[in-house]
Amino acid sequence: MLDIRVEKVEQRKEKPDFNNLGFGKYFTDHMFVMDFSDEKGWYNARIVPFGYIPIHPASTVLHYGAEIFEGMKAYKTENGYQMFRPYENAKRFNDSAERLCLPTIEPEDFVQAVTELINLDYSWIPDANGTSLYIRPFMFGNDESLGVHAVHNATFVVILSPVGSYYKEGLNPVKITIEDKDVRAVRGGTGYAKCGGNYAASLRAGKVAASKGFSQVLWLDGVERKYIEEVGAMNVMFKIKGEIVTPSLTGSVLPGITRKSCIEILREWGYKVTERLLSVDELITAAENGELEEAFGTGTAAVISPIGHLFYKDVDHVVSNNQIGELTQRLYDELTGIQWGKKEDKRNWCVKVEQ
Ligand code: PLP
Ligand code: COI
Repeated sequence: MLDIRVEKVEQRKEKPDFNNLGFGKYFTDHMFVMDFSDEKGWYNARIVPFGYIPIHPASTVLHYGAEIFEGMKAYKTENGYQMFRPYENAKRFNDSAERLCLPTIEPEDFVQAVTELINLDYSWIPDANGTSLYIRPFMFGNDESLGVHAVHNATFVVILSPVGSYYKEGLNPVKITIEDKDVRAVRGGTGYAKCGGNYAASLRAGKVAASKGFSQVLWLDGVERKYIEEVGAMNVMFKIKGEIVTPSLTGSVLPGITRKSCIEILREWGYKVTERLLSVDELITAAENGELEEAFGTGTAAVISPIGHLFYKDVDHVVSNNQIGELTQRLYDELTGIQWGKKEDKRNWCVKVEQ
């Protein structure tokens, strides 16, 4: 259990319009910060006014990208709020930390830090339809020297941002282009970790895609550029001839918590869900034959996001007539119903906090 010192702001900021939030543009009044050194372990846990973080110019993160993060959400309920599977995020954070030789954090401490910060900034949890409080825990290596080595000093921070939908399309289908030049991650690399470097590697293709009107890029495997992996901020699932197919977690794909939850729900509904290697040729053939019935992404920020166009090698393949598919809609309703506390949480996924 952390002993957290609290330093409150003198005056709270004005809140943005909760009906027009976009994603990640506004931040609450406070942030959680904690330091680590090999000698002391984690120390100086504190909640302080949201603001700049002083950083040494030789700091490891600035030169060698020693950084990991998480993305999770809190949802306003009638008498407080609830978080969706926060211990899964805590666990994945530690898996990422292990891969990047950053220190791990006790899952209880991770969730405590997030909870105490939200409790203080509770008034920032938006209540407009489709909104939530996005939670961004992150950690960076903070050694003040230029040698390349596992870090000895690190900083853990949690910031909060009231958000609406991630894509400007909202729940309307997004246009995705399949990238066959740049790759995001390779097996044995850091693809399964949620580290900043993976996203840095994705920016060039994302920029080209955006200039052509696509929301995001669908990545292929880094060796053969043959197998479907995931989209920039979400895992992908395809309904092909009634069966749900999703790329297996080969090490270069982020093990999404939404993905895992959807697989469980779909199997409970009686669908056959197969995690396997899915080649882009197989996917495109299914699209051409009319066997690709629905395609959607899953993610904390993206929630369930229907894919209406798949663009590959100069050909645009329209999926589900560019409409949200029946199963995609049902899954969206079920998942968000649980997250927003409107449907029974029979799997005990939500951690409820009363205010
Ligand atoms: N894949 C990538 C690259 C992501 O950034 C995310 C978002 O966190 C996901 C998949 C979905 O993961 P989750 O469902 O845990 O949010
Ligand atoms: C999330 O869904 O939490 C993400 O991290 C996606 C993205 C904003 C990087």
